[in-house]
Amino acid sequence: MTDRLLPDAEGLSRAADLLRAGRLVAFGTETVYGLGADATDPMAVARIFEAKNRPHFNPLISHFASADAAFRHVVETPQARLLADRFWPGPLTLVLPRRADGAICDLTAAGLQTAAVRVPAQDMALALLRAVNRPVAAPSANPSGGVSPSDADHVMDGLNGRIDAILDTGPCAVGVESTILDLSGDTPRLLRPGGVTAEEIEAVIGSVIRPVPGTQPDPADAPIIAPGMLTSHYAPGLPVRLDARSVEPDEALLAFGEPLPGAKVMWNLSESGRLDEAASRLFAGLRYLDREGTRMGCQRIAVQPVPGEGLGLAIRDRLGRAAAPRPALQERDVA
Ligand code: TXA
Ligand code: MG
Repeated sequence: MTDRLLPDAEGLSRAADLLRAGRLVAFGTETVYGLGADATDPMAVARIFEAKNRPHFNPLISHFASADAAFRHVVETPQARLLADRFWPGPLTLVLPRRADGAICDLTAAGLQTAAVRVPAQDMALALLRAVNRPVAAPSANPSGGVSPSDADHVMDGLNGRIDAILDTGPCAVGVESTILDLSGDTPRLLRPGGVTAEEIEAVIGSVIRPVPGTQPDPADAPIIAPGMLTSHYAPGLPVRLDARSVEPDEALLAFGEPLPGAKVMWNLSESGRLDEAASRLFAGLRYLDREGTRMGCQRIAVQPVPGEGLGLAIRDRLGRAAAPRPALQERDVA
């Protein structure tokens, strides 16, 4: 049984107790719901992989209530401090060398010398992290390979009975995952586009290496791979067709702006063409069209073009992965 906890003092203290006892608690952040566990406890972190049915031990992001708390576990660099001051709490994850005296366990970091850290911009999440007072590992709270959850009901759809509790804080404000920036090398490298745009980061620290959209890293480059960089990810049940200029009779439509005519089932990311609204409605839309489209006999989801600048880069990245050919399950190295 999964306990649905209210976002009040009692729910918070129950969630914190469970996390400190090595149990799994999903909680809302400003990006998506995370499936939390004590990042210092390998047994607890192992439960995350089990609950998600995640095929590989990929590194997880550790969450903190403050930058100072994060920098007790990873090495603070001048660039990291600048970015933390500007974007935390917020949808930016920094990859930095682990500190020898830090407590993030090897399983959380998948054995790497680096760890990913962030401070989420969600008041209840911050209160929870303060109460736990340890790094909290949290991948998106969905079964491996599925669509990320931007609402508590999405989490329950996928993980009810597999996790101990969920702290229900309603829908997530941003709706796509955090931007991941690797600061452990010579030049900052964007590993996954997300809630903070590349332009915003570059305004603070100068140019960063950007991923080429739709590319898959050479498997030989493992283990430093962000699953967000692999091709098939965030996949709904129905196939996805991108940049549609018209709707076929057997298609459901994910619209952006003025909707294309003729769809039996439609979800508009943003009628007014706003990218922030579109990001916040993306994963709920994929879920809705998957469910209602299937019910109405649709064979595919057609997606209207979304511009690739600003938050549009993260939206196009997730849509590209949802549309990518689906490899066999054991190759789906997904989060
Ligand atoms: O918005 C988010 O980031 C959400 C919320 C819950 O915080 N979390 C999330 O976690 O999206 P997840 O596990 O779905 O994605 C974490 C990504 C993976 O692509 C992983 O490979 C990458 O972070 N990552 C973690 N540690 C890393 C490291 N040391 N080096 C490179 N990539 C790392
Ligand atoms: Mg994920």
